[in-house]
Amino acid sequence: MPRILVTGGRGQLGSALSGVADTPGRDELDLTRPDSIAAALDRHAPEVVINAAAYTDVDGAESDEATARAINSDGVESLAVACRDRGTRLIHISTDYVFSGEVPGGGDPATAPALEPYDPTAPATAYGRTKLAGERAALAVYPETTIIRTAWLYTGPARERRGIPGGDFVATMVRLEREREEITVVDDQWGSPTYAQALANLLLEMLAVENAGTHDTRGLTLHATGGGRATWCDLARAVFEAYGADPERVRPCTTEEFPRPAPRPAFSVLSDAAWRDAGLSPLPDWRADLTSAIAEDAWQARGGR
Ligand SMILES: NC(=O)c1ccc[n+]([C@@H]2O[C@H](COP(=O)([O-])OP(=O)(O)OC[C@H]3O[C@@H](n4cnc5c(N)ncnc54)[C@H](OP(=O)(O)O)[C@@H]3O)[C@@H](O)[C@H]2O)c1
Repeated sequence: MPRILVTGGRGQLGSALSGVADTPGRDELDLTRPDSIAAALDRHAPEVVINAAAYTDVDGAESDEATARAINSDGVESLAVACRDRGTRLIHISTDYVFSGEVPGGGDPATAPALEPYDPTAPATAYGRTKLAGERAALAVYPETTIIRTAWLYTGPARERRGIPGGDFVATMVRLEREREEITVVDDQWGSPTYAQALANLLLEMLAVENAGTHDTRGLTLHATGGGRATWCDLARAVFEAYGADPERVRPCTTEEFPRPAPRPAFSVLSDAAWRDAGLSPLPDWRADLTSAIAEDAWQARGGR
């Protein structure tokens, strides 16, 4: 395995890679400070950098696009230049929000074709615009960069124990199942839930296969998410079921009934065809990884490592 550095080391994906990679936090490697990028790369001397650092507050970006852009676009460009100048491989993590969020052809989201990496991008949010600008900036200055778009990332019940700040959808549903008799969750937005640890393992597998010389993803844009598709309501019900609770306690609602500052995509199911074409194995169905996330947490809570 090559020597790996992961930016945004205190976040979900960064935490999932700690132990197998150097995972500096923003205090050591700040994407908005090129001097700190250079110092961290020289100190850790990685062969591969995985850029998991990002401004990920989707609603916050609507009122502060300049900050989001400074991190998600300008910062990514600085990182790509630093990697290029050192001959360091760069894997940049991006998002389903680069797409418009509309169902292709206006069809049924339950059966509409999943989005391919080459499908038109037309972000509807400030976050999506800045992430798309980051993809383009990285490829412009360092065309060998690999872009990996993921979606609906969660850590789940282990989040607090791992000390990851903030929340994620699955962790929130686990808490709400304990706190509330009934909850309401949107049932008209479709995507693919992705367990952060499973994505981390997938990236390691990608690098291991690449190191063995059997394939090369340099310069490619690929999609890597949990398999299958779900609405947020499906995911919430699956969490309730996993804890032996009645899934009917999760009531469906529409996006209109639950407005947010940033418009949420109605459809952001990403196709893994390019991933498989690159010789890589896809993630299992999202339900299997949700079961793993909950089982791993229970095992670790009992003292497992
Ligand atoms: N979460 C999702 O649902 C989702 C979906 C699709 C794609 N993605 C993408 O997947 C990647 C990983 O997401 P995640 O969920 O692991 O994110 P996360 O948990 O929000 O972690 C992001 C990390 O980036 C750090 N960061 C923010 N500004 C920085 C800066 N200027 N310099 C260095 N680090 C900085 C944050 O540190 P602070 O805590 O100090 O701010 C945080 O530790 C990101 O590229 C994200 O865009 C995420």
